[in-house]
Amino acid sequence: KKIAVFASGSGSNFQSIVDEIDSGMLQADVRLLVCDRPGARVTERAEAAGIPVFSFRAKEYESKEAFEGEIVRELRASGVEFIVLAGYMRLIGPTLLEAFDGKIVNIHPSILPAFPGKDAIGQAFDGGVKVTGVTIHYVDAGMDTGEIIAQEAVTVEEDETRESLQRKIQAVEHRLYPATLRDMFRKK
Ligand code: GRF
Repeated sequence: KKIAVFASGSGSNFQSIVDEIDSGMLQADVRLLVCDRPGARVTERAEAAGIPVFSFRAKEYESKEAFEGEIVRELRASGVEFIVLAGYMRLIGPTLLEAFDGKIVNIHPSILPAFPGKDAIGQAFDGGVKVTGVTIHYVDAGMDTGEIIAQEAVTVEEDETRESLQRKIQAVEHRLYPATLRDMFRKK
């Protein structure tokens, strides 16, 4: 499967997908990294892996339609069939949703529909829940609302700190995302 990964930040999930492909465990080809923050750590990871990068600044475009239109052209030019969001901090608009209908997935660090949106780990920690986790879901027009594909729970221990919870959730993400993509691409 020819995929693009969209990310805005550190790119540890991007890295876990690239590593899984390199070790032969995931049948996919990352044709492009799309990044809305030029200079983000994830772009260095892509360069190190020899993966082309399309970086853009949203504010340099007139509208979401304008930058998403350009992204769609880049994706088509790279032969991309499937989009993997990995810490891409923007809502996907109609231009991308219509061009890749049913072919966009996202990872979110909570058991959706609990704690959608930003800082899901902080929301769970502050909320005092005993169980949170990770969700992988299809993307629709809402914020973290599409059909759920996979979830894995993480227990919040008595002595848990925000940082230790974050580390546990990230460890689950780095295993669950490649494994879920592997299952999905096998079936299709
Ligand atoms: C992850 O926790 C992901 O679930 C969230 O953003 C974070 C991205 O981290 N939506 P990274 O850039 O992959 O390290």
